[in-house]
Amino acid sequence: MINVVFLGFGNVNSHLLNTLHGTDKITVNQVFNRNYIKMISPFENISFTDDLSKLEEGDIYIIGIPDDAISSFSDSLPFQNKLVVHTSGGVAMDALSSKNRRGIFYPLQTFSKTRKVDFKNIPICIEAENPKDLDLLRRLGETISENVVEIPSEKRAKLHLAAVFVNNFTNHLYQIGSKILKEEDLPFDLLKPLISETASKIETLSPEEAQTGPAKRNDIKTIEKHLHLLGDSPYRKFYELFTEELKQNYGKKL
Ligand SMILES: NC(=O)c1ccc[n+]([C@@H]2O[C@H](COP(=O)([O-])OP(=O)(O)OC[C@H]3O[C@@H](n4cnc5c(N)ncnc54)[C@H](OP(=O)(O)O)[C@@H]3O)[C@@H](O)[C@H]2O)c1
Repeated sequence: MINVVFLGFGNVNSHLLNTLHGTDKITVNQVFNRNYIKMISPFENISFTDDLSKLEEGDIYIIGIPDDAISSFSDSLPFQNKLVVHTSGGVAMDALSSKNRRGIFYPLQTFSKTRKVDFKNIPICIEAENPKDLDLLRRLGETISENVVEIPSEKRAKLHLAAVFVNNFTNHLYQIGSKILKEEDLPFDLLKPLISETASKIETLSPEEAQTGPAKRNDIKTIEKHLHLLGDSPYRKFYELFTEELKQNYGKKL
């Protein structure tokens, strides 16, 4: 049995609690959050504290709080030589206080509290200072995912950078699309099949093969028309940047 204590209860740790609770190899001993949280069904029997001095024993302490707060929070933990991990893609393992055994348990997915996720296919990126802890993290990961991979901090930082491009920036582009449609009273729903197909075709095509559009085809008149429609919109700079980048990528002269 692996005993887990969650430190912080935001998007990631609440999803991890949901998926780990109820597996027969894991016991969630406690949830800590700096502000009070009422543990609701089916978690009402899990101990909750907002007091670091009342933390219970655990084999693994999982910090799930904003990146910039991880380091000082780990310094403030009132114990030593326990396995303390964080869930961030972008924060190095050595940001954690060295008074404890350090590790990483980074689930490579986007998590929002209200949206259910299936961990089975989510890559869990692990790292630890010593082989025994790495093994424990692997066992923890394998109770929920079929894809547990050891990735050192420097590579994880690059992985996270790539993830920001394909997820956060892409999602922001959805917002831009949505706003452009709103100006014409058109529903965002019209774009959803296109968004779905764009995402699913990279299952069988490389991103390079999957690319389409006026910039790749070098359809200058269409590009000029789009720039005209954008006028002095704040989105113009993105359009110009992406168009330039795509043209260079596909070898077209400007
Ligand atoms: N969301 C994702 O898609 C995602 C995916 C993979 C990895 N991650 C990583 O997972 C970690 C948590 O992300 P999240 O999205 O779950 O964050 P989040 O939902 O914003 O988490 C907020 C949690 O952190 C606590 N908190 C905030 N500032 C704190 C501080 N200074 N000291 C102590 N606790 C603090 C909050 O407590 P209160 O309730 O008291 O405010 C709350 O429990 C981050 O390192 C992130 O990089 C996120």
